[in-house]
Amino acid sequence: MTREMARIGSVAEIRARARAVLPRAVFDFADGGAEDERTLRRNEERFADLALLPRPLNGAAARDLSVELFGRRLALPLIVGPVGLAGLFWPDGECAAARAAAQAGTAICLSHGSVCTLERFAEAGAAARWMQVFIYRDRGFTRELTERAAAAGYEALVLTIDNQLLGNRERDRRNGFAIPPRLTAGTLAGMARKGRWLWRMRGEFSRITFGNYARPGEQANVAALAARMGSLLDPGMSWRDVEELRRIWKGTLLLKGVLHPAEALEAVACGVDGIIVSNHGGRQLDGAPASIEALPAIVTASGGKLAVLLDGGVRRGADVVKALALGARACLIGRPWLWGLAVGGEAGVAQVLEMFGSEIDRVMGLSGISRIDAINAELLFR
Ligand SMILES: Cc1cc2nc3c(=O)[nH]c(=O)nc-3n(C[C@H](O)[C@H](O)[C@H](O)COP(=O)(O)O)c2cc1C
Repeated sequence: MTREMARIGSVAEIRARARAVLPRAVFDFADGGAEDERTLRRNEERFADLALLPRPLNGAAARDLSVELFGRRLALPLIVGPVGLAGLFWPDGECAAARAAAQAGTAICLSHGSVCTLERFAEAGAAARWMQVFIYRDRGFTRELTERAAAAGYEALVLTIDNQLLGNRERDRRNGFAIPPRLTAGTLAGMARKGRWLWRMRGEFSRITFGNYARPGEQANVAALAARMGSLLDPGMSWRDVEELRRIWKGTLLLKGVLHPAEALEAVACGVDGIIVSNHGGRQLDGAPASIEALPAIVTASGGKLAVLLDGGVRRGADVVKALALGARACLIGRPWLWGLAVGGEAGVAQVLEMFGSEIDRVMGLSGISRIDAINAELLFR
């Protein structure tokens, strides 16, 4: 870790560093949300509304942060979530994050929209790796990705259900951040001012692509691949597709983007193993509730028959503990690890995971809790 990074103490600080390092269009692509960004803000605000009620005299001299999830023990209840184009933030960004996750003893989920292929990512060293997919208009392509993930030894398949149309991200439109890029003069000038990022990425630009969308032997032209990707998303997907996926995928199956308790009930009926309560980090339906608000009803509806995870607005160890107190088994992060990646590559992601770990540990110690499974609703001030 560099001396500069050692001074960074929080996710908020690492975000500020990422803002300084990245061209505005790239920073905004990660940081922004849909339309008025109400859901984006709400994710963090609703965590802030919850307060913790500690019991110091319970005594918690040693704390065990590990958690059992889908038959694997993770060192902490925090998973590196799927984000597209991580390779735009740091050369070979996805693989750098995989190494950091493996080092931290936790799982990582690769995005459908990764720069590297899922096969290459599988070689990067993360044992607990999950693969995120969509239901495409061409159901054969969903099957193809699923079979490739199985062949490459992925343990879990994450079906994202809230991206069937692309959210209206106005920052990206203003910045001309699109695939292929339609950059304005201002955006290009902004990029030219970010020397460190430009220098680091100088050999990479021709390699930035959607690695999983190129068929074997095909020229990986990013614009053509983006067009394929967009046209393949299917707003007409339904539970029948989930049932079909359940038939073809033998490993752990999760649905990501669940907010309605009725969908949690259906997921149980379909034999899904886990759901991720998520509004896509406020990037899709602006006006959706915060994930943490939606969580309790989903935990109740699922009745312990599947694992409920959560993402959206998790910025502190205390947020993870609050989600666990409301019944989540673990949380995922999106933007925080991208910010870490932009600042320090593998070491930056490692530092973000380490910060979360030490914050969770401190919250547990201050609250009188020594094991993750002892975290429950009694920890919340009502
Ligand atoms: C830049 C970016 C790209 C994302 N790409 C994907 C993706 O390809 N697939 C997916 O399921 N979710 C994607 N997400 C959503 C994240 O998985 C996650 O739901 C969200 O970021 C969680 O909120 P947080 O950023 O507040 O932690 C993306 C998020 C960001 C910020």
